Amino acid sequence: MAKTKTVFICQNCGHKHPKWQGRCDSCGEWNTLVEEIVEAVKRSFSGSVSSVSPVPLASADISKVERVPSGFSEFDRVLGGGIVPGSAILLAGEPGIGKSTMLLQMALKMAGTDKKLLYVAGEESVGQIKMRADRIGPGKSGENILLLAETSAEQSASFFDDVDAVVIDSIQAMSSGDLASAPGNVAQVRQCAAIFIERAKRLHIPVFLVGHVTKSGAIAGPKVLEHAVDVVLTIEGDRQSELRLLRSTKNRFGATGEIGVFSMAETGFIEVENPSAAFLGHHDKPVPGSVVFAGMEGVRPLFVEIQALAAPAAYGPPQRVVQGLDQRRIILLAAILEKRAGIPLSRQDLFVNVIGGVNLDERSADLAVILAIVSSFRDIPIDNGTAVLGEVGLTGELRRAPRTLPRLKEATRLGFSRIIMPDSREKLPTIKDIITTKVKDIFGAFNAVF
Ligand code: TYD
Ligand code: MG
Repeated sequence: MAKTKTVFICQNCGHKHPKWQGRCDSCGEWNTLVEEIVEAVKRSFSGSVSSVSPVPLASADISKVERVPSGFSEFDRVLGGGIVPGSAILLAGEPGIGKSTMLLQMALKMAGTDKKLLYVAGEESVGQIKMRADRIGPGKSGENILLLAETSAEQSASFFDDVDAVVIDSIQAMSSGDLASAPGNVAQVRQCAAIFIERAKRLHIPVFLVGHVTKSGAIAGPKVLEHAVDVVLTIEGDRQSELRLLRSTKNRFGATGEIGVFSMAETGFIEVENPSAAFLGHHDKPVPGSVVFAGMEGVRPLFVEIQALAAPAAYGPPQRVVQGLDQRRIILLAAILEKRAGIPLSRQDLFVNVIGGVNLDERSADLAVILAIVSSFRDIPIDNGTAVLGEVGLTGELRRAPRTLPRLKEATRLGFSRIIMPDSREKLPTIKDIITTKVKDIFGAFNAVF
């Protein structure tokens, strides 16, 4: 049989090399060579190519976007209302965060509704998966789930025919015989994904690809896959806590920004119906350095506790240790506090955490961070019936906040008595049992809480 021809192309300058080497001959960059196929061998399962012809936009058929429920309503919400057949969904996350558990649990739920699934285990044995399945749903019939312990992409793809959905766990463990590179390598990941996605689209079934990322998101795998798949989901959370957030960062069939909230229990994932209550710390009395941020994730309010600790820097330059927020933003906010409010933070170590392992990218968290830092610095607690929001500008002014009404409603629902916020464009109805304190700048906020 003819062998597929490959070359190693430098991703920096495009120079081609016949063999892998650490350094590019042409531009001198290190570790930039990626194996690419020059001449593909026709795959045996390519089958008959469907004769597709262009159709006028006006008569394009949209009825095909029917969605299949996954059995997890939180999962369906993030997908935009269920699984779209023929879609490729990447589930990324750090090792041990619960990717295999979530997909196996979903497979069991779907199998319960008479769907047939193929679970390709590239990392674990069939026995290990069976043990996990027993833990999640003991006694559940696994008749509809086919397990395949296989790392060859071509072999695995040949079993896609008679099932309604496929799980590949994980894409980094798979390899294609067409390439000489090791599994997990950029070229392998890309090639295997292409094989699975092409096959799944042809058969009009969804394929779930598990992708590992490191703490810094550094491994090439999921990044190169983002372009190839229709939906990118990530599981995040603090492994010390049982809460997990499912987030979509790309979705060709729905809005991104939606989150699903789960709790990891002894028997797999449980959907969390009241996420704000789950993420809030429970303090009997107010403590310095803790502030509740009235946040939004997608269309859903999510209240989280932000904690800060300011302590005199003993040695060398002061530390800025941040978890769940952009570190540069914290440095900026500390500079605003130093310059505008005269708070000498340049000789203080600062530690800022978002409780529960959530990553916040909303600018409206600024005011909560600032108040938490000042509260810790002055050692004065802020009343724990207060929630805050607002983006802080360079002069210390507060910007108008978007979507305040759902946050206010959530605040009352959770039993907060006061919310501190910038002026908003929305005309707000008066809401019972909650005082809204509108402030113009950080000084207004200090006056309101201290
Ligand atoms: P896993 O799904 O194997 O993670 P990943 O595939 O992302 O690497 O989940 C790993 C963790 O989940 C492991 O530490 C054990 C825990 N776990 C539970 O707490 N409850 C359960 O029911 C299961 C199956 C796992
Ligand atoms: Mg796993």
